[in-house]
Amino acid sequence: MKKKALWVLVVVLGITRLCGSRGCWEQERVALSALNATLDLKYRVDVGGSYFNCCSWEGVECNPTTGRNSRASLFLPFEELKSLSLSDNYLGGWIAPEGINSPLSKLEVLDVSHNSLGHSILSILSTIPSLRHLFLHDNNLSGTLHVNGGFSNLKELDMSDNPVDDVGTVVRALGALSSLRILSLQSNTIDGTITTQGLCNLVKLEELDLSNNGITGELPTCWRNMTSIRVLFLEDNEFTDNVASSPLTSLTSLELLSISGNYFDIPSSLSPLANYSRLKVLLLDDNKLTIDSKVAPLIPRFQLKYFTMSNSLSKGFKVTSLGFLNHQYDLITIDLSSNDISSVFPTWLLENNTKLKNLLMANNLFATLEVPPMTLRNLLVMDMSNNGMRGELTTEFCLNVPNLQYLNVSANRLEGNIPSELASMKSLLLLDLSHNNFSGGLPMQLLDSNSSLYSLNVAYNNLQGEIVLSDNTMYLNLLCLQLEHHMFKGDLSFLSSLVNLLLLDVSNNFFIGKLPRVIANMSSLALLDLSKNQLNGLIPQGLFNLLGLEYLALSDNNLSGSLASSFIAPELRHIHLNGNKLNGSIVHLLPNSSNLVTLDLSENEFFGSIPYWLGNLSQLSILFLRGNDFYGTFPKQLCRLKSLSMIDLSKNNLFGPLPICLGPVNFSSTGYANKVDSAPHSRFRGQLPSPWSYVRTIRSQTRSYNNKILIVEVWGVPHIVEFTTKRRFDAYKGYALLNMIELDFSCNHFSGEIPPEIAISQDMLMLNLSHNKLTGHIPMSLSNLTKIESIDLSYNNLIGSIPEELTRLNFLGVFNVSYNDL
Ligand SMILES: *[C@@H]1O[C@H](CO)[C@@H](O)[C@H](O)[C@H]1NC(C)=O
Ligand SMILES: *[C@@H]1O[C@H](CO)[C@@H](O)[C@H](O)[C@H]1NC(C)=O
Ligand SMILES: *[C@@H]1O[C@H](CO)[C@@H](O)[C@H](O)[C@H]1NC(C)=O
Ligand SMILES: *[C@@H]1O[C@H](CO)[C@@H](O)[C@H](O)[C@H]1NC(C)=O
Ligand SMILES: *[C@@H]1O[C@H](CO)[C@@H](O)[C@H](O)[C@H]1NC(C)=O
Ligand SMILES: *[C@@H]1O[C@H](CO)[C@@H](O)[C@H](O)[C@H]1NC(C)=O
Ligand SMILES: *[C@@H]1O[C@H](CO)[C@@H](O)[C@H](O)[C@H]1NC(C)=O
Ligand SMILES: *[C@@H]1O[C@H](CO)[C@@H](O)[C@H](O)[C@H]1NC(C)=O
Ligand SMILES: *[C@@H]1O[C@H](CO)[C@@H](O)[C@H](O)[C@H]1NC(C)=O
Ligand SMILES: *[C@@H]1O[C@H](CO)[C@@H](O)[C@H](O)[C@H]1NC(C)=O
Ligand SMILES: *[C@@H]1O[C@H](CO)[C@@H](O)[C@H](O)[C@H]1NC(C)=O
Ligand SMILES: *[C@@H]1O[C@H](CO)[C@@H](O)[C@H](O)[C@H]1NC(C)=O
Repeated sequence: MKKKALWVLVVVLGITRLCGSRGCWEQERVALSALNATLDLKYRVDVGGSYFNCCSWEGVECNPTTGRNSRASLFLPFEELKSLSLSDNYLGGWIAPEGINSPLSKLEVLDVSHNSLGHSILSILSTIPSLRHLFLHDNNLSGTLHVNGGFSNLKELDMSDNPVDDVGTVVRALGALSSLRILSLQSNTIDGTITTQGLCNLVKLEELDLSNNGITGELPTCWRNMTSIRVLFLEDNEFTDNVASSPLTSLTSLELLSISGNYFDIPSSLSPLANYSRLKVLLLDDNKLTIDSKVAPLIPRFQLKYFTMSNSLSKGFKVTSLGFLNHQYDLITIDLSSNDISSVFPTWLLENNTKLKNLLMANNLFATLEVPPMTLRNLLVMDMSNNGMRGELTTEFCLNVPNLQYLNVSANRLEGNIPSELASMKSLLLLDLSHNNFSGGLPMQLLDSNSSLYSLNVAYNNLQGEIVLSDNTMYLNLLCLQLEHHMFKGDLSFLSSLVNLLLLDVSNNFFIGKLPRVIANMSSLALLDLSKNQLNGLIPQGLFNLLGLEYLALSDNNLSGSLASSFIAPELRHIHLNGNKLNGSIVHLLPNSSNLVTLDLSENEFFGSIPYWLGNLSQLSILFLRGNDFYGTFPKQLCRLKSLSMIDLSKNNLFGPLPICLGPVNFSSTGYANKVDSAPHSRFRGQLPSPWSYVRTIRSQTRSYNNKILIVEVWGVPHIVEFTTKRRFDAYKGYALLNMIELDFSCNHFSGEIPPEIAISQDMLMLNLSHNKLTGHIPMSLSNLTKIESIDLSYNNLIGSIPEELTRLNFLGVFNVSYNDL
């Protein structure tokens, strides 16, 4: 192999990198030997951007040894080096090679992304005149950027994901980079306007990415001169321009324009952009659409492939308001979600655009589910959820969208049977029919072992019958199955065919019989909800040892026996076993689940004392032990539970004084919602799943323009968890629980005075100490509970008078002090 032609990327082995699985090519081995003379052998070679495993080579060490803030002293002999990648290390500084003139004199591509380099790197790199492509993504560039000339050949600069905050310094630093074609300042912390100083010298720019900053105001007028620009990402800023009069109208070379997530005023005819003959991608989500009926419908010169305009609500908006759509025939993705569009579904859109792959129309007001007018072989993703549509999901519908991968018609008013022809859609991966009025049985063909379906959600319909799968068949693809809120009966033996499940929710049905032991073998389970059925028998031992289990609900069944003596489930956050006939002592349960947030064992037959180990569950926020036979005093250890939001120990045999140690709770740092997994970052603004999503949600829009693909991936399995107390049945969502406190110690034998400290938090909503043996006065501190809705102190031996201050509590709906000696 000729050394001259060598394009080698040398990667310092980072701490997080493991050896890849790819083999090492012989010619790379030879090439590495050639470089070996001075190469520190803790480097790995990478050719063409993919990692190759050269670990087996003699002298190549694969155990990572680089430390934080190491300094890269560059290998001097790389005179021929054209491309160098040092990304993803812990480089904090940079030692310029000394003693040798221009050791990197041929370097054209340098990637030092994902390090901690500061701004001084720029002045050092400016001494490499050959540099054409520089990737500084995810570093620590901030403050004043020094670029004193140099970079005269730089064509591409990626400074995304740095803490650069002042556009002025960026402009001054970059204004000189007259050759620059591609510039990314995405995800910096730039704010303020750029009208006066807006990157005016970079007239040769072809691609500019300023997305995800905090830039305000209008676009700089000098941008009218950026006539070479093909790709412009401005999304997620605070621009307030009117598209019709903005410099955007001059940029007729644009192929991609993304202005989503701003305050742009956009005329619905898009006439100001009509001359963009090359425009293929137009992303206008989250802006303000103005309907401009004045402009006569004109034929735009563009044929879009990707058009998104979700959540740009304007009253009275119809699809026909977007006059230009009549003239589009090449659409691949169209997203008009969340616009409250109330008209007949535009089937002509489907007729005109036979290449359509992604049709995203959720959260509108389309009246009926229309059968596609023809077979749409290219359609992959169809989201018609939450429209209130009537009608049926017909056989014809299914046959006309044979290649769908994602179908979501959730939250409509569809009725009739679920057609078994859905099973003939062999590419279907996610099917969400939940929250409709479908009736009849569940077509078992949907769970066919050959189907690729991995998420099936039919929850909240009117289905009935039994779930029977053929014996000895494994339905390995299915990961998520949601059948809750139906009238299904029969037993759960079908689960033995579904061993790969990650999420199983069959709550609120009429399932009978024992919990199949196979559940303990479903090692992928993260969420298991079998509550509100008629299941009986013992809980299989292994259930508590499932390593990935995060949410376990078996409540309101007829389960019996005692719990295993200890369990491990390290990820377990929520345990709901209430409303069964479980018994025994839980003193030796000793869970190794430090992540536990909810423990609800109420309405069972547990006995013995309240265990001390509860005090070790530092995340515990909800503790319900109501309606058991727990005996003894309030254990001091529970005072360590500073995150407790709701505690209900009512209807037990507890005695002794009330605790004075519970709080005050510091809600600012330990709110309940903070402890629940928050969903991963989503580019679908406004549709972030609530913190109650237990199964990781992937709902992302992947963009990649260089290879001309823009994929909209839409799938996910958000799950809202409900929980009940005897007084409330609510779906607590989001951050509602941050401010919530309930304390219920009623129906025990607690004695002594009510400690003033019982007014634990100003956010308290409910306090119940009734049916105990409490004495003394009602403490004045209760008047501090300004949000309280219910105070019940009845059936005690309290004396004195009712503090007058209590009458000033505005929200108090229930105040019961009857059966005392007041
Ligand atoms: C690098 O050189 C060392 C010693 O000179 C040698 O043992 C090793 O095999 C060489 N590594 C490669 C990959 O050629
Ligand atoms: C980033 O740079 C600032 C100074 O500009 C410094 O205070 C900070 O420690 C640096 N952060 C890292 C992670 O190196
Ligand atoms: C565009 O460039 C020309 C020539 O360089 C200059 O005279 C003009 O002022 C510029 N226009 C704007 C709007 O900056
Ligand atoms: C589009 O181009 C035509 C002819 O070149 C011109 O008359 C018209 O004003 C242009 N429209 C806009 C919005 O720039
Ligand atoms: C596209 O839809 C519009 C509006 O219904 C219609 O006028 C036009 O003829 C359609 N074009 C094609 C090719 O079907
Ligand atoms: C649901 O469908 C049933 C018939 O299966 C019908 O009687 C009922 O009224 C429907 N409910 C709603 C809310 O539309
Ligand atoms: C499943 O696939 C196999 C082989 O691809 C085929 O023989 C079998 O008939 C299929 N089963 C069903 C129910 O379609
Ligand atoms: C669970 O797995 C074990 C070991 O893989 C196996 O021996 C046992 O039969 C399985 N139990 C059930 C009920 O499938
Ligand atoms: C619950 O289980 C007990 C036996 O443990 C049985 O006697 C009782 O009938 C069951 N109740 C229901 C509602 O199934
Ligand atoms: C616990 O329940 C089981 C099953 O109902 C019963 O056999 C056992 O006697 C109970 N244990 C105690 C101590 O009550
Ligand atoms: C289906 O749409 C509903 C409502 O828009 C949404 O909440 C749900 O997550 C979607 N289902 C899937 C599987 O993406
Ligand atoms: C009410 O709370 C304040 C502090 O928030 C405290 O100083 C005061 O003593 C409390 N009042 C009573 C009656 O406990």
